[in-house]
Amino acid sequence: MVIFTVAIDGPAAAGKGTISRAVAAHFGLAHLDTGLLYRAVGAKGGDPVLAAQTLTEADLARGDLRTLEAGQAASRVAIIPEVRAALLDFQRRFARREGGAVLDGRDIGTVICPEAEVKLYVTASAEVRAHRRWLEVGGDEARVLAEVKERDARDMGRADAPLKAAADAVVIDSSDMSVTAATSLAIGIVGDALRAAGKV
Ligand code: CDP
Repeated sequence: MVIFTVAIDGPAAAGKGTISRAVAAHFGLAHLDTGLLYRAVGAKGGDPVLAAQTLTEADLARGDLRTLEAGQAASRVAIIPEVRAALLDFQRRFARREGGAVLDGRDIGTVICPEAEVKLYVTASAEVRAHRRWLEVGGDEARVLAEVKERDARDMGRADAPLKAAADAVVIDSSDMSVTAATSLAIGIVGDALRAAGKV
């Protein structure tokens, strides 16, 4: 039975998604983008607690979840403790599933899976992150930077499960390296941990 969790946390547009998908594909682990859960709750409208309690696969498959607006709406509903509580069990079960899992988000190493075998905190300067997000979404780069900073402040400042690096997380700051280089670093760290745990 292989139970092995890789927790990847960090601020907006830090490259967590790219790194998580690559780590999961490299080691054959399942991947859950937990930000998508909050984006889907924010996009659903109505009562966010009810939306979180009744979230379906179809809600997660919407085509408009990657926009800047959906990111802002996600970080607003993510403040609500009942929303976070409604999404907790699903994430915990996913983290400890048979065969191993990679989860990326804000509170995976601190709250969802403090027992994760590997914890990475992926970050970069706000300017570098905003530039990378702007290359994806286009528009006005100054506005993208303002959105990134606003979301970071909300995510780090909230009372329930604020964004911070777990005490035992390895920090990867990709301000001066490409996301590809950060990905190689992450794969190396996870490979070492898997070997140390005798799982490969
Ligand atoms: O892709 P990006 O880093 O821009 O954002 P995301 O991971 O899709 O997360 C969107 C928002 O959901 C974040 O700004 C957080 O407010 C919230 N979130 C959270 O509170 N906890 C998580 N585990 C994941 C996301």
